[in-house]
Amino acid sequence: MKKIVILISGRGSNMQALIDAKLPCRIAAVISNRADAPGLEIAKQHGIPTQLVAHKNYAERAAFDTALAGVIDSYQPDFVVLAGFMRILTEQFVNRYRARLVNIHPSLLPAYAGMNTHERALQDGVKIHGCTIHFVTPDLDHGPVIIQAAVPVLHDDTPQILSARVLQQEHIIYPRAIRWLCDGTASLNAKGRVVFKGAEHAHAALIAPAME
Ligand code: GRF
Repeated sequence: MKKIVILISGRGSNMQALIDAKLPCRIAAVISNRADAPGLEIAKQHGIPTQLVAHKNYAERAAFDTALAGVIDSYQPDFVVLAGFMRILTEQFVNRYRARLVNIHPSLLPAYAGMNTHERALQDGVKIHGCTIHFVTPDLDHGPVIIQAAVPVLHDDTPQILSARVLQQEHIIYPRAIRWLCDGTASLNAKGRVVFKGAEHAHAALIAPAME
């Protein structure tokens, strides 16, 4: 059975969705860069080993990444799953986990890379927003896409309301993506493209719930 390690920084609702999904893999550990991340408690309640690698203990980003990689590698995971992990990782770290490092981002990439995605979408008046699961590359929030979910943006949305609508979809697509990676349905090929084993899965890689 494949093994994954999940990295968090906070609430951990995506991590919880991955736990609840009973995926065909073992969650070998949950690692946080913050001691006060509520997600650590949730992981413990599920009997999952937890580790803290506190970024504030490292003066340099590279030293933090080296320490983090050391802890990750002690579990020998097949995939490293970033679930609300709020640190930018060095190119060296990203390259070490090529084709094994996966992230969730609360926008339809390549639109709205970076922070405050919901605020920026509302400011622009876009009608469609959503979330993306992608392989991580050194180019921040721009790696090959595994699955996306689109949601409508409604005229009276606030960032909180829109964020909640997107989060609902995050909790659907992240388990689906990790399932595909662990059972070999989806993978990254040598050209850096996500490929699917069956055509039906490629079609399921976009979720667009009915417009309200
Ligand atoms: C999610 O919206 C994720 O897309 C973003 O940070 C949030 C983390 O939420 N990167 P949680 O910790 O999984 O509840």
